[in-house]
Amino acid sequence: MAIIYNEDKKVFNIKSKNTSYALMVADTGHLIHLYWGRKLESNKLDYIFKKYGKGSFLADTDNIDNFSIELNTVEYPTYGHTDLRSPAIEIKLANGTTLTDFRYENHSIFRGKKELRGLPATYMENDIDGETLEITLVDKLAELRIVLSYTVFEEYDAITRSCRVINNSNNNVEILRVLSANVDFNSNEFDLIQLSGAWARERHMVRTPLRSGNQLIESRRGASSHDQNPFIALASHDANEEYGDVYGLNLIYSGNFLANVEVDMYNNSRAQIGINPFDFSWLLEPNEEFEAPEAVLVYSSNGLTGMSHIFHDLYRKRLCRGVYRDKERPILINNWEATYFNFNGEKIKSIAKDAADLGIELFVLDDGWFGHRNDDTQGLGDWFVNIDKLPHGISGLSKKIHDLGLKFGLWIEPEMVNKDSLFYQEHPHWTLETPQRKSCHGRNQYILDFSNPEVVEEIAEALCKIIDDSYISYIKWDMNRCMSEVYSSIHDHQSQGKVMHKYILGVYRLYTILTEKYPDILFESCASGGARFDPGMLYYAPQCWTSDDTDAIERLKIQYGTSLVYPLSSMGSHVSAIPNHQTFRNTPLETRANVAYFGTFGYELDVNQLTFEEKEIIKKQISFMKQYRSLFQFGTFYRLKSPFTSNETAWMVVSYDKTQAIVGYYRPLQEVNVGYRRLPLLGLDEDKMYHVNGLDLYGDELMNVGLIISDSSCGENKDGCGDYYSKLYILKEAE
Ligand code: GLA
Repeated sequence: MAIIYNEDKKVFNIKSKNTSYALMVADTGHLIHLYWGRKLESNKLDYIFKKYGKGSFLADTDNIDNFSIELNTVEYPTYGHTDLRSPAIEIKLANGTTLTDFRYENHSIFRGKKELRGLPATYMENDIDGETLEITLVDKLAELRIVLSYTVFEEYDAITRSCRVINNSNNNVEILRVLSANVDFNSNEFDLIQLSGAWARERHMVRTPLRSGNQLIESRRGASSHDQNPFIALASHDANEEYGDVYGLNLIYSGNFLANVEVDMYNNSRAQIGINPFDFSWLLEPNEEFEAPEAVLVYSSNGLTGMSHIFHDLYRKRLCRGVYRDKERPILINNWEATYFNFNGEKIKSIAKDAADLGIELFVLDDGWFGHRNDDTQGLGDWFVNIDKLPHGISGLSKKIHDLGLKFGLWIEPEMVNKDSLFYQEHPHWTLETPQRKSCHGRNQYILDFSNPEVVEEIAEALCKIIDDSYISYIKWDMNRCMSEVYSSIHDHQSQGKVMHKYILGVYRLYTILTEKYPDILFESCASGGARFDPGMLYYAPQCWTSDDTDAIERLKIQYGTSLVYPLSSMGSHVSAIPNHQTFRNTPLETRANVAYFGTFGYELDVNQLTFEEKEIIKKQISFMKQYRSLFQFGTFYRLKSPFTSNETAWMVVSYDKTQAIVGYYRPLQEVNVGYRRLPLLGLDEDKMYHVNGLDLYGDELMNVGLIISDSSCGENKDGCGDYYSKLYILKEAE
């Protein structure tokens, strides 16, 4: 049994392989958070909760002398009733008050896990994976209920949480805030880790000690965003990759989110994650329910690597779905950086022909194939082929490309429209726009109102027509602007606060239609590069275009940061041309591939322009990736040296049976007169002998003495010298 309820003490202990998460029902009916951390066998943890007060400014809870619940760790706090810290939920009642008071009503424990209606979520393959606890809280006066769900994935060592609000009253109420998880810690001795950035430099790791007050990470852009990821971790100050306590919270959601840590006046920390309450309100009518997205909670006593491994395993096996979940991903060529909008059928076939000769497996036709799309001012929304460019249609082209021995993939951006399109002319009121206000474009495009099911259905129909007529094995689903002037004409004024969330539900709906109808198609999500790299998307699309920045050196930080939560099999990574189109940097072809191997791998350049020598190198890269891709994509990943703290980056993947490993070492800038260096490795079997660098060394030597990475030849000849240097080391168990 993974979830134990001690009836006598009213204590729940949710246990996974190495973790306990404990809570209890106080005699007042409050749900109290007791503990989250290393596994505890005891189920008598009620002593952790003490009612106490202070001769201070605080009010006495329920008028019980010396009991201020604000001094306690609360499981799912409401606002107004003496706990005045950030609430997890706030509901406006018919009488205009926002005070709610939820107390324990009942609970149930069962094996398995329920689905979340219309939302992406982790799932179980069978009930052996774990158990679920549902606790119902009630506000008797308001006749509202909250069902808090906790699912434990025992072997994966993760807990997922979600919550449902039920209106049992006869009145409409308005949900102003409904977070998916709240965790109170009895300490502020943590660093906050977040993944922040911007377009072309997404998910850089930022680590800062907690300070007093709120530290808010959020998106208000309508997508999880480039600038922040729906993830935070609290790490003990001494936590590093291998050691220390780390608590990670990640939201399975692709829209506006909030992740907040509030350090209160008694140095407790309240960590929260959920839909962003900013500009959100949900009118809940009698007998209606609202389901909040799922949050994933991961505790590791083995530092950041321990946390990452739990997220990686859970997401690879119990979040991603479909035939590609466990399959090696095809090596692709994408024509975007090769041609941008400037192509025709002949050019595409000629790229595909050379790509096939190089050993590439999938050709992806990017933006520009539809409507009158010759640049980014026109055509979006017109999901029929541009006959001027592709006279044989997508069906003819995809057939030709199949005949060359390649699979065929297509780019779409279904959520958007250009005003210069037939679709917009037919449906001028299907965009999000605020009456009497100027609607601003982003990249000349406007946002379709996906909160309107009719719009979603119409787009689905147009896309299915294209897919049904062609040989399509892959779809890259893009979304290229943030949301402004949001207002939906199909909702009345009281329901405008629903629009952003309903929009995301519409996106999920379209993904559901397409993934159910075409289970064999591999989806890759994209949003101006990495603006929607989140677990919500991974549920539908097992891989995501990590960033529009294809520069190998920039990618070190982007992929390193992304790996904190997301597995290598989810990271779209391509070799592109030099000078790089984003940074104008010239990096060696070898380094570009050495970075891109640690992801799904592909090329995004004009292969027709390559020299004979370059083609020969690329052929070798492709056959190398084919040989090792299951190790890259499904092995265990370790970060060894951080690009955020030094001029070197190193990381490695180890096969599950620990018989093979590949180390990637990168040194962006040549240094002068450096000493002899070794790189201690991780994750090997200490008793196994590995062949590497021409030597047979035990795992314990490689992990303690380290791998020799200094190249003694540097200085005499050019090998191992120069800027943007990189090297892969292959380790194989010695015979
Ligand atoms: C976005 C994507 C790119 C490319 C272009 C096409 O920027 O991130 O990869 O598909 O759109 O317009």
